[in-house]
Amino acid sequence: MSHQNMKSAIFGNSYVICVISIVLILVSLAECREPSSIKLNSFDYHAINCRKHNAVLTDFGAVGDGKTLNTKAFNSAITNLSQYANDGGAQLIVPPGKWLTGSFNLTSHFTLFLQKGAVILASQDESEWPKLSFLPSYGREKDAPDGRFSSLIFGTNLTDVVITGNNGTIDGQGSTWWDKFQKKQLKITRPYMIEIMYSDQIQISNLTLINSPNWFVHPIYSSNIIINRLTILAPVDVPNTDGIDPDSCTNVLIEDNYIVSGDDCIAIKSGLDGYGIKVGKPSQKIIVRRLTCISPKSAMVALGSEMSGGIQDIRIEDITAINTESAVRIKTAVGRGAYVKDIFVKGMNLNTMKYVFWMTGAYKSHAENGFDPKALPKISGINYRDIIAKNVTIAGQLDGISNDPFTGICISNVTIEMSAQKNNLPWNCTDVSGVASNAVPKPCDMLPEKKIECPFPTDKLPIENVQFKTCNFQS
Ligand SMILES: *[C@@H]1O[C@H](CO)[C@@H](O)[C@H](O)[C@H]1NC(C)=O
Ligand SMILES: *[C@@H]1O[C@H](CO)[C@@H](O)[C@H](O)[C@H]1NC(C)=O
Ligand SMILES: *[C@@H]1O[C@H](CO)[C@@H](O)[C@H](O)[C@H]1NC(C)=O
Ligand SMILES: *[C@@H]1O[C@H](CO)[C@@H](O)[C@H](O)[C@H]1NC(C)=O
Ligand SMILES: *[C@@H]1O[C@H](CO)[C@@H](O)[C@H](O)[C@H]1NC(C)=O
Ligand SMILES: *[C@@H]1O[C@H](CO)[C@@H](O)[C@H](O)[C@H]1NC(C)=O
Ligand SMILES: *[C@@H]1O[C@H](CO)[C@@H](O)[C@H](O)[C@H]1NC(C)=O
Ligand SMILES: *[C@@H]1O[C@H](CO)[C@@H](O)[C@H](O)[C@H]1NC(C)=O
Repeated sequence: MSHQNMKSAIFGNSYVICVISIVLILVSLAECREPSSIKLNSFDYHAINCRKHNAVLTDFGAVGDGKTLNTKAFNSAITNLSQYANDGGAQLIVPPGKWLTGSFNLTSHFTLFLQKGAVILASQDESEWPKLSFLPSYGREKDAPDGRFSSLIFGTNLTDVVITGNNGTIDGQGSTWWDKFQKKQLKITRPYMIEIMYSDQIQISNLTLINSPNWFVHPIYSSNIIINRLTILAPVDVPNTDGIDPDSCTNVLIEDNYIVSGDDCIAIKSGLDGYGIKVGKPSQKIIVRRLTCISPKSAMVALGSEMSGGIQDIRIEDITAINTESAVRIKTAVGRGAYVKDIFVKGMNLNTMKYVFWMTGAYKSHAENGFDPKALPKISGINYRDIIAKNVTIAGQLDGISNDPFTGICISNVTIEMSAQKNNLPWNCTDVSGVASNAVPKPCDMLPEKKIECPFPTDKLPIENVQFKTCNFQS
């Protein structure tokens, strides 16, 4: 570049910068004149669908003082908005405040949006919770014999539902429920926080969920589900507070979640014993990635123990566990029937674990009416690779079922640093077969060394191709 050209380039640039500065000043002056409320109540967000109609919870008489019960307001708001299902759908805004409520039901083509500072508080009064009949793939409930409470946010037979927000909070106020459960005072099974049944196209994202009475998020008999950017928090010593439990679901994407729980961070299920076999709905085509989990008493991802509709094509990638009992665990039992197959795990970073690999063929719980001893689960094609683990007590406890071994186990590129309190036997295997490659410490003899990189699918599942829309909301 000649000296002259350089000079004009510099002048040119400073001219451009000057014009930009003037424009910026004009824009900020213009902004100053706008009432600030307009700015506060306008925002963009990403969702599977945007909505034509909007309403605010307060339009329906809700009071956000943390004391007034708003069950009627939620139900009448959603009933009112359900009329727009075939006219562009509707969105219910939950503004900042503390909104005490019992259970309410969702509708189709609907978005529940929790603004920043909005807290939905679950009522601890049992009369605010309708009773539901048993889930067909489970028969009776395990908590209590007389049925189950509807979840705080419940939906059945729906299409196109979004539950999201600017990191608003849903607080299950679980303490009284955990207490009653531990004192065996419940006749009806504790409610979940969010349960969606027989539904299609579901998004649950950008929220903080705390202290659920029971499991947090339970999609069942549903498909095309995206669950992302959730912060899920429960004390690590309270019962059954599983984070996300896809149950007999197909095409599920679970990504970028942070979960601290007293039970499994994620548990993939499909029904119990004869009930699950009869319903026969598998959990399949499920992705779990970029999860961080803390669960000292349970698994980062459990497969089962209820798996009687089958579990297959599960892809788990890039996940982190800290102070967690086990990583990706398989739990099953004689009587479950069905299968767990084509499981792929790639990229785990683990710190302070009891077990890195744990498979159990004799999990204790059964349906109340017993089980068929001939219904043997088939466990095969279980692939793990690229794992770093520190401070581990037991590298692998792999227990298949006699006469029904777990087959096709593949473990490659694994480095496990054992803790000072390590077990004398880092690997302990019965009734399993497979291969291992480049794993330290050396696996049990049932997994002989073979130079191999365990497979991980390279194709995309349909749920990965869903395009988010940019939705704008202005009040
Ligand atoms: C969730 O957060 C991400 C990252 O901040 C943002 O891109 C996305 O629009 C948010 N989604 C919703 C529904 O607010
Ligand atoms: C509910 O829906 C009707 C239209 O059917 C509308 O007129 C009414 O204002 C809505 N909102 C409330 C708060 O009832
Ligand atoms: C929600 O729907 C279920 C099933 O249709 C019903 O039993 C329950 O009473 C409803 N809950 C409310 C709060 O209306
Ligand atoms: C919901 O769908 C299931 C399965 O298709 C069906 O058995 C049930 O009757 C439906 N319930 C309602 C309330 O439509
Ligand atoms: C959402 O809120 C939780 C709890 O306050 C916080 O830990 C988390 O970092 C927040 N997430 C985002 C994306 O702001
Ligand atoms: C082995 O796993 C580590 C992560 O744990 C990864 O960084 C590395 O690339 C893997 N090596 C091979 C050869 O795949
Ligand atoms: C290692 O694990 C033990 C539990 O097995 C725990 O008490 C200890 O704090 C952990 N150490 C580190 C350095 O994380
Ligand atoms: C090995 O596993 C079996 C159960 O399959 C158990 O009974 C035994 O105690 C274990 N051994 C060690 C040393 O942990």
